[in-house]
Amino acid sequence: AGGAHVPVLVIGTGYGGSVAALRLAEAGVDVHMVEMGMAWDTPGSDGKIFCNTLQPDRRSYWLRTRTKAPLNYFLGFPIDRDIPRYTGVLDAEEFAGITVYQGRGVGGGSLVNGGMAVTPKRENFGGILPSVDANEMYDVYYPRANAGLGAGLVDPAWFDSTACYQYGRVGRKQAQRSGFPFVFVPDVYDWDYMKQEASGTVPKSALAGEILYGNNYGKKSLQKTYLARAAATGRVTVSALHKVTSVAPAPGGGYTVVIDQIDTGGSVTATKTVTADRVFFAAGSVGTSKLLVRLKATGALPALNDEVGKGWGDNGNVMCGRANHLWDPTGSLQSSIPCCGIDNWAAGGAFAEVAPLPTGIETFASFYLSITKNPNRAAFSWDAATGTVVLNWQTAWKQPSIAMAKTIFDRINATEGTIYRTDLFGVYKIWGDHLTYHPLGGAVLNKATDNYGRLTAYPGLYVIDASLIPGNTTVNPFVTITALAERNIEKIIATDL
Ligand code: FDA
Repeated sequence: AGGAHVPVLVIGTGYGGSVAALRLAEAGVDVHMVEMGMAWDTPGSDGKIFCNTLQPDRRSYWLRTRTKAPLNYFLGFPIDRDIPRYTGVLDAEEFAGITVYQGRGVGGGSLVNGGMAVTPKRENFGGILPSVDANEMYDVYYPRANAGLGAGLVDPAWFDSTACYQYGRVGRKQAQRSGFPFVFVPDVYDWDYMKQEASGTVPKSALAGEILYGNNYGKKSLQKTYLARAAATGRVTVSALHKVTSVAPAPGGGYTVVIDQIDTGGSVTATKTVTADRVFFAAGSVGTSKLLVRLKATGALPALNDEVGKGWGDNGNVMCGRANHLWDPTGSLQSSIPCCGIDNWAAGGAFAEVAPLPTGIETFASFYLSITKNPNRAAFSWDAATGTVVLNWQTAWKQPSIAMAKTIFDRINATEGTIYRTDLFGVYKIWGDHLTYHPLGGAVLNKATDNYGRLTAYPGLYVIDASLIPGNTTVNPFVTITALAERNIEKIIATDL
């Protein structure tokens, strides 16, 4: 195929891509979105679109023959299992020193994530995106993003009484007994729906342990928010199971985009060429960085600047569990949607989400995903020998994160007379320090791009996703990714179109 021409092509359908598509379409521009993952709009033989966390099938992982669960041991036993190779929804992408989890499909990370919609504290914003006007962000773009995403807080009275947040209440009690600020955090889950799940009147998702491999009912993923609104304009089309492999200046102006169509086994079934006047890179921190680094190194976009690939961080992610006393059970029914955290950012560089461990049985464990102020930054580079893009992150670079997380949990353990769990990440291993859920950077704003995401060496090429953010957001990142995309696309529509 070939010869097709579109005004705007967006690579990827996560937060950045969905904001770009909606706002451009509202401005009267036709947009074509290209997504390597599946559409996730058709139920399987069990009547569900997504599989359950406790029963992973082929729908769980992106082109793997064995699951790679983030929490991969339980009571010291490995829990991973064989699955058929399929274009499943969660990619556990392995680099030398870190496994980077990402969503694959129309909706990107919104399909697999916990939906925690957290706006950073304003006093921390200058350290997150120093070249961006904080007043504009907090007056205009954060509110716009939160409204567009449908973020809301759990009803505190319901939190206090429902069985499914006993683990949250234990987290609160222990945080407060050690003198740490406990905070509720917003989520895009439909809280009324969750209450109905608890009363047994609707099919369950949060209360059926659905997380990581997709959510069948209550979560307002991008499919239900930005992408639904984009589709309603009639100006946005989406090609799922299509992967962009090249972008290069077209002879007659605009850009030639090369796209592989793949089947659900990952094999290429067709290669297509489209000419686009403008291209938005919204393939996520890893996806956009890999494309730009390769296209620069291999001569398709040689004038990209030397900042491309740099400034990558893991948002300081580190996981751990604590063993509670028998009189502090965390509950056999746990909502898979986290709603609270422990804030020790200012004093200890750590913000810990009180996370669920939705196994269906009492574990007497408290589980946490900490976001820490880890200063380490990695870079992507082209490895000509293997023809791949590599990332130079090292596992040892998580040590600052562990030290920061310990400022919370060592103290809680001392207060409670408890210990860390050692059976969740291996045999006698306390820290989940091998992974991130929050890849950020690789095409940093005002460095690899101008202050609005333009790749200035190539007019009409833009970056509009997590790769703009240099490695850390102090909290869960997607509200900041969305708000920054809202800011940048407004400027681009006003000045470039
Ligand atoms: P995103 O990754 O969302 O989208 C990029 C899309 O581009 C993907 O769909 C991908 O398949 C596609 N793509 C990549 N390369 C391509 C190519 N070459 N051609 C075509 N398509 C391509 N954050 C948060 O704020 N709160 C939370 O609770 C959580 N929880 C959480 C849990 C888990 C398990 C994960 C994996 C992640 C989270 N996150 C999170 C992180 C959050 O989901 C993440 O930061 C955002 O999805 C990133 O948004 P982007 O728009 O940058 O890319």
